[in-house]
Amino acid sequence: MSEPELLLPHNRILRYAFHERLTHWVSGFSFLYLMLTGLAFWSPWLFWIAYVCGGPQVSRVLHPWVGLIFVVALAYLYIMWHAHMHTTETDKEWWRNVNHYTKNEDELMPPAGRYNAGQKLLFWGFVICGILLVLSGVVLWLPEYIPWNLRILRYLAVIVHPGAAMLSIGLFLIHIYMSVFAERGALNSMIGGDVSRDFVRRYHPGWYKEVMGDSTQALPPK
Ligand code: HEM
Repeated sequence: MSEPELLLPHNRILRYAFHERLTHWVSGFSFLYLMLTGLAFWSPWLFWIAYVCGGPQVSRVLHPWVGLIFVVALAYLYIMWHAHMHTTETDKEWWRNVNHYTKNEDELMPPAGRYNAGQKLLFWGFVICGILLVLSGVVLWLPEYIPWNLRILRYLAVIVHPGAAMLSIGLFLIHIYMSVFAERGALNSMIGGDVSRDFVRRYHPGWYKEVMGDSTQALPPK
């Protein structure tokens, strides 16, 4: 998408095209179902959740299939976004200044591009967890196809699957907090696609420059 196409009427900027939003929400809702049913299988204390997710048998049958949907959606997110997710010198500088970010001192942060360094870390975390989850999940799903001399894979899967699940649930909770509560305007962009110019200028000044071709704008007042 070339930059002028991102400029919308009423000073809005297109942040997510329809296919990006659709893929994101497929991955989001499938992850939610996987997390809930996975927690239900993980601990007897949480088994009641399976009844909320369609019943224990239904949850057990659907969990691996929904897992496949999640991984396909994640693969598509990777294809769409990985070019934006490489670490730059600005990202390294961003981490060195992360204390300002935690204090909402955006004007003291190096200019983040379309994604800041924290968002990039989250992206790669989801990608790595997704790979570990699908590989270990297939072993747990179809153990009869694992030859006996490769049974070590079964033992590994029993450890890797819940380990990667815990890590991705941690990432998921951070992601919800950051994108829904911390950065006001971000959730709207994932629903309607667009954000205000002020949002882009505040949170992604480097991207703002690319989209607008204009570096002279100061941060809007808080
Ligand atoms: C269902 C709960 C979820 C909600 C409410 C949610 C919300 C959002 C929002 C609002 C954004 C836009 C942030 C921005 O542009 O500044 C976003 C971006 C993103 N989401 Fe989600 N999301 C959810 C689940 C997921 C899941 C399960 C994944 C894992 C595949 C994921 C991966 C991403 C990535 C990689 C981005 C771009 C980088 C970032 O903004 O962190 N999201 N999400």
